[in-house]
Amino acid sequence: MIIAVTGGAGFVGSHLVKSLLEEGHEVIAIDNFVTGTIKNFYFLPKDFKERFTLLEQDISEETVNIDFKLDRIYHLASPASPIDYANIPIETLKVGSIGTYNILNLAMKHKARFLMASTSEVYGDPLEHPQKETYWGNVNPIGPRSCYDEAKRFSEAMIMAYHRVHGLDMRIARIFNTYGPNMRLNDGRVVPAFISQALKGEPITVFGDGNQTRSFCYVSDLVRGLKSLMETPNIHEPVNLGNPAETTIKNFAEMLLTLTGSTSKIEYKPLPQDDPLRRRPDITKAVQLLNWHPEIPLSVGLTKTIEWAKQYV
Ligand SMILES: NC(=O)c1ccc[n+]([C@@H]2O[C@H](COP(=O)([O-])OP(=O)(O)OC[C@H]3O[C@@H](n4cnc5c(N)ncnc54)[C@H](O)[C@@H]3O)[C@@H](O)[C@H]2O)c1
Repeated sequence: MIIAVTGGAGFVGSHLVKSLLEEGHEVIAIDNFVTGTIKNFYFLPKDFKERFTLLEQDISEETVNIDFKLDRIYHLASPASPIDYANIPIETLKVGSIGTYNILNLAMKHKARFLMASTSEVYGDPLEHPQKETYWGNVNPIGPRSCYDEAKRFSEAMIMAYHRVHGLDMRIARIFNTYGPNMRLNDGRVVPAFISQALKGEPITVFGDGNQTRSFCYVSDLVRGLKSLMETPNIHEPVNLGNPAETTIKNFAEMLLTLTGSTSKIEYKPLPQDDPLRRRPDITKAVQLLNWHPEIPLSVGLTKTIEWAKQYV
């Protein structure tokens, strides 16, 4: 198949591109490098290069023109870390609205199946726990995170409208915290931040009292879930993809100290505004519809990520 991946130079996108190439597909990555980097393609073997095209383009600014017929479009382009979207909130809103609109039209033109990387942030600071896809969310529409949360909610609404009005064959993946090699170590997300601090022997910064929870999914599990969602027929509704194993941030910091052998101390700082207290996916739907569940335990995924990160600190 010929497959386009917007945001292909980002953390998740680069793993997806590699995996699709490994399966023998032709892949076109579309990216403006606002948070991604060409270096993320370092792990593409040379013989893949003839089936791989990189299109440097801002999907919010211009429509994407591709001459040959696309079969699938994975739409991943969007800043994804709180530091990134705090720095570029308008670009974040634009890519979730105009960018999504442009890529939806590309999908219509090519009659391509379309999958969008949505997020657990559509649930905001959830009042229901764990979060099922039926939960409508608790989002502050004008808070500092709203540029991301509302852009993703808008994207979902737009995709559903294209499905209802134009019959677009679409998928929505609501992704929960994912980690692994190719994350930027300074992107502010908790996994790279803690790994980087631990490897440098700096204090590990825990916001709040550390009792807030997160659930971390290793990137290879997520990529398998995204491909499975794309290829399973007729799933025209959002599906959560994440690892339901929940850990407190404090326990997570302690685990990292053990795995890195670091002597860093844990330092507590005030919780940022609208930071969710609990986050855990209910993945019943993914298990039932896709027979998907995460396979990589946190300690194994973290060990791989730490090994990768060592070359950068
Ligand atoms: N990683 C996670 O834990 C997580 C969780 C939930 C949802 N997601 C979603 O998955 C997708 C990928 O996330 P990631 O962690 O790989 O983030 P990332 O920042 O590493 O990758 C995003 C990519 O999109 C590109 N991009 C952004 N705006 C663009 C534009 N206007 N035109 C073209 N390219 C643009 C960036 O340059 C980057 O390469 C995002 O849509 C994100 O919202 C990720």
